Amino acid sequence: MKTDKSLELFERLLKVMPGANTRSVTHYEPFPIGIDHGRDCRVWDVDGNEYIDFVNNYTPLVHGHAHPRIVDAIANTAARGTAFPATTELQAELAERIVTRTPCIEQLRFTNSGSEAVLMAVRGARAYTGRDELVMPAGGYHGTWEQVALEAIEMPTEDEDEGDDGRSGIPRGIPDALVDLMHFVRYNDIDHLEELMAEHGDRVACIIMEPILGHSLQEGDPAFVRAALRLAHEHGAVLVIDEVVTGRLCVGGWTAQHDVKPDLTTLGKTIGGGLPVGAFGGSAEVMSVFDPRRSDCVPSHGTFNGNSLVMAAGCASLDLLDQPAIDRINEMGDAFAARMQTAVDVAGVDVRVVNVGSLLHAHSSDCWALHAACLEEGLFIAPRGSMNISTVMDEAVLDEAAGRWERALQRVKVAQATAV
Ligand SMILES: Cc1ncc(COP(=O)(O)O)c(C=O)c1O
Repeated sequence: MKTDKSLELFERLLKVMPGANTRSVTHYEPFPIGIDHGRDCRVWDVDGNEYIDFVNNYTPLVHGHAHPRIVDAIANTAARGTAFPATTELQAELAERIVTRTPCIEQLRFTNSGSEAVLMAVRGARAYTGRDELVMPAGGYHGTWEQVALEAIEMPTEDEDEGDDGRSGIPRGIPDALVDLMHFVRYNDIDHLEELMAEHGDRVACIIMEPILGHSLQEGDPAFVRAALRLAHEHGAVLVIDEVVTGRLCVGGWTAQHDVKPDLTTLGKTIGGGLPVGAFGGSAEVMSVFDPRRSDCVPSHGTFNGNSLVMAAGCASLDLLDQPAIDRINEMGDAFAARMQTAVDVAGVDVRVVNVGSLLHAHSSDCWALHAACLEEGLFIAPRGSMNISTVMDEAVLDEAAGRWERALQRVKVAQATAV
């Protein structure tokens, strides 16, 4: 595998960016490959190596790269102006599509990222309840906003040292005063959530959680999420479900699939057709705190909120992502994960493949070695092992990918044998 030009790009970027990087999750050692372009389900790096793309920019590219309908929507819209400080019909088009397909969203507002959507949802919950504190699962991820940017946190199990409150993984730069406003619950542990709410509930503005922990693909038990909704309401708080990633699993997202109606929901990724996007929405009552006609309204500004390019790309993306399309990629995810695991068992390497529909994760004791082996064989997967299926994949692509996966596993096996 040629990497001369990737190294050249890395060295060029090193001069102008710390660690040659502007998105932490994309860094890996010794230097990451530089991407030149993508088309359908493939990407090509700056050295000309080709990969089947199972990252899809960490899930928003559910229709792969440069989908002709999304490219047309962007090009046609760009020719008419990209952003206006005004309401537009395109905003209505995308908002109506989301409200129609998402039972728990009566009203919404757009942002430029999932992180901002989370920020505004939590601010809305705080304004609505007049409270400051949050409850969230340890090990969850909600983006970069400092009030929730605590993905490294690990919750000790009940049997572990009670003295460790799990805060050792909190990144530098986040004030302790903010962390003091947060309470961490063990995911899927209803008793623990009951205890936390009994102790802090009268100060809690919201319980916020992903329905599936994106970092590990641990799925939320619907009973846990329903208990969170009940407990939030019993204590005068609201439930915020972060569907930035899981919105792709069903028309209407995970909550529609499991018939749970949170007060607020955050969306992103797939609703923007590959452009930067976020949205937060829920019951008209809670969302009314953002109504600019109110004297006490909570402002949600943003120069690019609801800009025309994102609205147009988002409409095209959602029109392509109907339930049959979703069912198809979910079924492909099930079949491909099973096939990957069979190959793992045959190879006898230490890897475990899990999936929830079109979202997959290859857990490995040495994810760096697995990642490097996949790149060598032309499989673009995330360094930590997460993968996802796009609608532009088909059986032939997955057959090809399965062959590459088997060869990647052989590389891992040889590397492990040599290391012993
Ligand atoms: C569950 C979840 N919430 C929020 C975010 C933040 O979204 P963004 O990266 O668009 O800010 C992410 C990003 O991966 C996410 O996975």
